[in-house]
Amino acid sequence: MKLKESIESVRNQFRADSDPFPNDEASLDSLRIKYIGRKGLVANLFSGMKDVLPDDRPLAGQLLNELKVEINSEFDKKSKISKDDISNESTDTSLPGINIPIGHVHPLQQTLDDIKSIFLDVGFSIAYGPEIDDDFHNFGALNFPPEHPARDMQDTFFIDPETVLRTHTSNVQIHLMEDQNPPLRYIVPGRVYRNEAISFKSYCLFNQVEGIYVDKKVSFSDLKSILEYFVKKMFGENTKMRFRPSFFPFTEPSAELDIWSDKRKEWLEILGCGMVDPEVFNNVNLDSNIWHGYAFGMGVERICMLKYEIDDIRLFYQGDMRFLEQF
Ligand code: PHE
Repeated sequence: MKLKESIESVRNQFRADSDPFPNDEASLDSLRIKYIGRKGLVANLFSGMKDVLPDDRPLAGQLLNELKVEINSEFDKKSKISKDDISNESTDTSLPGINIPIGHVHPLQQTLDDIKSIFLDVGFSIAYGPEIDDDFHNFGALNFPPEHPARDMQDTFFIDPETVLRTHTSNVQIHLMEDQNPPLRYIVPGRVYRNEAISFKSYCLFNQVEGIYVDKKVSFSDLKSILEYFVKKMFGENTKMRFRPSFFPFTEPSAELDIWSDKRKEWLEILGCGMVDPEVFNNVNLDSNIWHGYAFGMGVERICMLKYEIDDIRLFYQGDMRFLEQF
């Protein structure tokens, strides 16, 4: 049978051509096209089938198929090996991935965001004011007498005798009441500065949130209820709290708010508050017979420290990733 010989000769030719098996894509392709391409030698043999006598066809077909299978399997083997080669060389699937560090919102910012959203939910707006201010806004209008110790160099950073780095956000109470007609209801977040010895519990700058509400009918019970609402949102429904009488030159009466710490078994102060002193209204030309108000001021660091049991205020300002990554 002529076809049988042709099959043998293509087989031998292929064995010669594929030893060694080509390594590069181009010669691999041309070998593939030459033998098993659409017009390759194997296809050519198949088209020779029509000239084979009907009786010989089953055998011829079988032989031809065997050749085709042999050649295909050689290509398959090679392509499997070359895939293994590639994975050996360029992709180590056991290699750990590249760890892209994800940033954190600073714990102070998280606490500030919490405080803001608690008050925004009940109708407060947010206002800001200057960190460098004059004596009048930081002290005078807030009813600090000229010889008040808070004005002392030991507490206050002076830029010049009339200009200070604000020691509290209460200066913005004055700006708001000067600039706007009541009713007004604001919280004022911001940095404040005090020239204190730096230690685990005090730093030369820290953050406060001031609250101020001025309207025709504002009572001390309004103040108590807003702060009770705040404490429960911030520290949990079951937080125990108490108001303790206190003194600030710009509020009358004044109080400090403590919350109970189960862990430390003691009351911890979280803010100062009170009813806006009539003298403050006079200083900004508001009639204290018509307008009433409450104010409060809290330290953001302090609240954050209580909430997350942080025991050193300096940690907020050191940028130590071992601290920050815990939040
Ligand atoms: N400004 C006060 C402080 O820094 C806090 C305060 C604000 C008290 C508003 C009463 C009313 O300690």
